[in-house]
Amino acid sequence: MQPVILDNLVGELREARAVVVLTGAGVSAESGIPTFRDAMEGLWAKYDPSQLATPEAFDRDSEIVTRWYDWRREKCATAKPNPAHLALARLEEHLATPERGFTLLTQNVDRLHQAAGSRNVVELHGTLWVWRCTRCGIEREERTVPFQEYPPRCACGGARRPAVVWFGEMLPEQALKQAHDALATCDFFFSVGTSAVVEPAANFIYSVRHRGAKTVEINRDATPISRVVDWSLLGKAGEVLPELVRRAFGI
Ligand code: OAD
Repeated sequence: MQPVILDNLVGELREARAVVVLTGAGVSAESGIPTFRDAMEGLWAKYDPSQLATPEAFDRDSEIVTRWYDWRREKCATAKPNPAHLALARLEEHLATPERGFTLLTQNVDRLHQAAGSRNVVELHGTLWVWRCTRCGIEREERTVPFQEYPPRCACGGARRPAVVWFGEMLPEQALKQAHDALATCDFFFSVGTSAVVEPAANFIYSVRHRGAKTVEINRDATPISRVVDWSLLGKAGEVLPELVRRAFGI
């Protein structure tokens, strides 16, 4: 990592008043959870999202779709927060004061940020741990893995689906509003562990940059926003983030 960039970034981060962090699957990769677009082990490299992560796929074959999501739930059940999750929880702890603000916007559905101690978490794409009845709409957190039937059934007899955002679906209204409120006032924006290709999260950088906020990307590979941010740190989130919060705040 180039120290000169880090020193410059550290100095600016210390002055930040309202920090927003956007995370993607790369933040959970070091917890053993597959990302989506990584060439070899990514979920979308092995499976076709249109066959699994759409309402049409569920209508066509709710058994295969719910089996796949339950397989992902089992992987998440044994996953532990990694140093990237823990560093973000420490950063929130340090910055969440009356004079300063911290908001964590995540595209991840595994709730490892909450397990690490993050509190102000906005789940843009929902979560695998809550399942919704497609007949009566009742939502319930389900921590027992695996399910005993596919699709799992509601007491009303309806088929239940994961409360995650599928392709072609709108993001949860409340989550979008929280995200836009945080983005409207932030002066420091991080994009961590995301390929920055899925809307609307991929566009957040442009709205905050337009307002003059400082922007940082921490990602293993270059992405379409690597040339747009003020600092692009290529590396593992589980290594770069702990180093950054240690250098900036000694935490
Ligand atoms: P992707 O799989 O598209 O991108 C993961 C990014 O993380 C890649 O750019 C990798 O280079 C990077 N990466 C991998 N390991 C890393 C590590 N240890 N440290 C830092 N970076 C690492 O996942 P997302 O960007 O999260 O949406 O995908 C966005 C959305 O597309 C997901 O929320 C999901 C998917 O379709 C829905 O399901 C609605």
